[in-house]
Amino acid sequence: MRRLFIAGNWKMNLLREDAVALAEAVAAKADTVGMVDFAVCPPSVYLDAVGQALRGSKVGLGAQNMYHEAKGAFTGELSAAMLLDVGCQYVILGHSERRHILGETDLDVNRKVKAAIAAGLSPIVCVGETLAQREAEETLQLISSQFRGSLADLTEDDMQKVVIAYEPVWAIGTGRTASPEQAEQVHADLRQMLKDQYNTAVADTVRIQYGGSVNEGNAASLLSQPNIDGALVGGASLKADSFLAIAIKAISG
Ligand code: 13P
Repeated sequence: MRRLFIAGNWKMNLLREDAVALAEAVAAKADTVGMVDFAVCPPSVYLDAVGQALRGSKVGLGAQNMYHEAKGAFTGELSAAMLLDVGCQYVILGHSERRHILGETDLDVNRKVKAAIAAGLSPIVCVGETLAQREAEETLQLISSQFRGSLADLTEDDMQKVVIAYEPVWAIGTGRTASPEQAEQVHADLRQMLKDQYNTAVADTVRIQYGGSVNEGNAASLLSQPNIDGALVGGASLKADSFLAIAIKAISG
């Protein structure tokens, strides 16, 4: 049985005071929501402060990116060990904003995934098609190529540490969500890829989150799908009530 996993991607939002206050509010209330794992992923400069605000709660800490090298002359980058050092358990990798705005390739993502796992982090690896790809009926092909590229050369053990996030690019920040059927179809396809590449045990273990305009109004219908194991939430994660409401709807709906 896969536990629901709801993570908030704060992206490049909030300054310290608001970030800490949000973390405290999420931490205080998350403990009252059973059977769900939570994480928040603040901007990297606030990881330490947010991590302290979360201490003792059930809410995990995640970063939004990292570099694959262990250390050295890589100005502006952060290593997996640094993320662990400030208390991270998770790191989002291959988010579509990094792929499309900052030019990250599947190879870049794959290097980061391997370095994250080797250091002891759980990567949340994002895949998702653009609107043009969906309209050209290339969704499955694109998801399969991102799956093979971004998650190449992982052992069975490695793969079980990965969380996959299916985030259709056209649904991110647009208020336009994939329908539960559209999302479930891709999640089922991803589950099949895990089964083909590994085995049933891996396919049954790996959690696949949905992301893209998730809110308390659509959470129940999306998260009740058999292959949707949680959500990666952007906008609605910036307020404690709207973030936690997603989990409450998911378990009650
Ligand atoms: P929104 O929930 O704002 O659409 O963002 C989704 C996302 O990109 C999470 O990583």
